[in-house]
Amino acid sequence: MSTQQIRFFHRGELVEVSGAQPTRTVLEWLREDARCTGTKEGCNEGDCGACTVVIGELPEHTDAPGTSVRGLSLRTVNACIQFLPTLHGKALFTVEDLKGTPSAGLHPAQQAMVECHGSQCGFCTPGFMMSLWSTYEHHAACGTRPSRQQLADDLAGNLCRCTGYRPILDAGQRMFELPATRLDTAPVIDALRSIDRSDTFSRPGFHAPRSLAALATLREQLPAARLLAGSTDVGLWVNKQFKELGEIIYVGDVDELKGVEERDGELYLGAGASLESTWRALAARWPELTDVWLRFASPPIRHAGTMGGNVANGSPIGDAPPVLMSLDAQIELRRGERVRRMPLADFYVDYMKNRLEPGEFVQGLAVPPMAARRQVRAYKISKRFDSDISAVCAGLSIELDGDTVKQVRLAYGGMAAIVKRAPQAEAAVQGQPWTQATVDAAKAALARDFTPLTDMRASAAYRLQVALNLLQRFWLETRRTNPLPIQATSVWSVMPHDVTEGA
Ligand code: FAD
Ligand code: FES
Ligand code: FES
Repeated sequence: MSTQQIRFFHRGELVEVSGAQPTRTVLEWLREDARCTGTKEGCNEGDCGACTVVIGELPEHTDAPGTSVRGLSLRTVNACIQFLPTLHGKALFTVEDLKGTPSAGLHPAQQAMVECHGSQCGFCTPGFMMSLWSTYEHHAACGTRPSRQQLADDLAGNLCRCTGYRPILDAGQRMFELPATRLDTAPVIDALRSIDRSDTFSRPGFHAPRSLAALATLREQLPAARLLAGSTDVGLWVNKQFKELGEIIYVGDVDELKGVEERDGELYLGAGASLESTWRALAARWPELTDVWLRFASPPIRHAGTMGGNVANGSPIGDAPPVLMSLDAQIELRRGERVRRMPLADFYVDYMKNRLEPGEFVQGLAVPPMAARRQVRAYKISKRFDSDISAVCAGLSIELDGDTVKQVRLAYGGMAAIVKRAPQAEAAVQGQPWTQATVDAAKAALARDFTPLTDMRASAAYRLQVALNLLQRFWLETRRTNPLPIQATSVWSVMPHDVTEGA
């Protein structure tokens, strides 16, 4: 097995690292090896944002080439749960990159934080700076300024215990009023282009194939290896549970897995496409899903994490599976040359168990054209508004023919050992008039479909009551006469995503 050095762009030059363990994190490397201690460790599990860094990539290797900033794709991620070998071929920007020459002074984002008193103890500040810098570069690229709500959405993954968020949001607006300082992307692009990406990148215990065919072959050869995508689940197994992963196959360098596109009327989501771009595509078709999109984790987690990882991980409280099941999504599995599909609703067998066979992997998810005719809602119930895991998440859809229910899907997470549809409640609704009486019958059936658990997130009784109430809300919002307007829990505003930079 060959041993290649990990090569990435950092602080103005190409860095080569040899000898790092496959699960050494980017944060460990920064603080302990590179002595760049600006990036902080808070929670070490992707929650607090103290370790936020920005990853730069050539747009052709990302799932959102249209969002590049002068030829470079920039996205925030949490350094504490990213493994160092995944940096190969990319650029790493940290708070140390923001300070220019002594004569140039502070970056506008830093200067604005000073002027607006956005920092007290300062522990969270480097992480906020990197999120603000990313926002700054993206908006400067298309000549826009973020609204207050857009800034709040962008900063949803950064926690501050002392300052309070108002001065930080003030700084986010103020930075655009200061003399501009933009990233010089040309040397970064040149350096990234000099890194060979033609073949599988291999080190002891870590393999990163560069094509779907190479991934399929390697997966068959190493069926016991751990597949790694965005590591927003796997990173926590290492940091918090001290799990040994064994051999790792990293799927994040397979560009063919990152497609998000319309194919013969179906919406195809490559398993390696980020949560951000897949939720964006879903919300573009069903705007009612925007709320769950923006409340799924935080921007850095959504940039790193993938839809394939969320579905393959199969947590009973994952937010994507109930929504995808309500859309009748199919999951596409591949082993070697063989590709098979099944309804996502049939994929889960038991708690964290699914129908993947040895040597197989998730290639993509496909939402069929018929889903376009449906009214769809997703409701996420969690204790915290931003960046929290659901107690219950419902994905509900309905197609009406006049007043009669032609097709209904009621899928819930947090109500059983797996995410699943409610067969008895669906049967109570199917073919019936969409009335309060039908909803009452469905509620009675729903109580037979699920026997939820009590845990730290919610009691069994609360979960059941919430599931019934969400069904009622769904009816109120979708009934033909006098439907309730959708109660968005956040203002729907997001980063500009059609930035084709020329500035
Ligand atoms: P990884 O962590 O790389 O892998 C996860 C699992 O999937 C592993 O078992 C891996 O082997 C397997 N896998 C990955 N890709 C494939 C593939 N192509 N084929 C087969 N198996 C594969 N989840 C929610 O649902 N809602 C939330 O609000 C939410 N908030 C979070 C907040 C934080 C702070 C963190 C750290 C996580 C949160 N998560 C949340 C969980 C997590 O972000 C998702 O489950 C994520 O989608 C996993 O994707 P990944 O690419 O990071 O997968
Ligand atoms: Fe908290 Fe990384 S240290 S998100
Ligand atoms: Fe202290 Fe934010 S300034 S945590």
